[in-house]
Amino acid sequence: MEKLLLPLLLIGFANAGESWFYKEDIAAGEALFNKNCTVCHGKGGAGTVKDWRQKLPNGKLPPPPLNGSAHTWHHSPQLLDKIIRLGAKTYGSAYAGWMPSFEEKLSKKDRGNILKYIHSLWPERIRNDYDAFYKIK
Ligand code: HEC
Repeated sequence: MEKLLLPLLLIGFANAGESWFYKEDIAAGEALFNKNCTVCHGKGGAGTVKDWRQKLPNGKLPPPPLNGSAHTWHHSPQLLDKIIRLGAKTYGSAYAGWMPSFEEKLSKKDRGNILKYIHSLWPERIRNDYDAFYKIK
């Protein structure tokens, strides 16, 4: 785990201490997730394809699983919130992503609830490292 944590320490240091989402409500987040996100990210955030690194027939990358088996936990809570708010626009136009923006649909509180639910899907070891790194209590 130390090997994984080192790059996180280097990239994410400036964002340490953001713990707002942790106070939110997992059950409310799950309901919002099922309504808005499972269609692309799968039930329990498990993804909808066998290999999320394999391009789809249309040349686009599939929505990655969010349950800790891909790289969602490499991003700070602040960046994850931004991805839900802005979708593919987060990454800029050079990256031809297609995650929709939920800016109009989901409040900051809704996004926090969803993030807390996503966080709850991660394996305990990843959660513990993430929480220690971002000083989430
Ligand atoms: C229409 C399909 C679609 C829907 C609906 C959707 N997403 Fe996504 N999502 C994607 C795609 C595709 C990506 C990969 C980035 C890209 O292509 O824009 C992505 C990326 C993400 C990422 C970054 C994952 C990572 O590991 O870096 C997060 C977090 C995320 N989505 C959360 C959500 C949440 C929360 C919802 C519901 C509120 C949602 N998505 C709804 C398609 C979707």
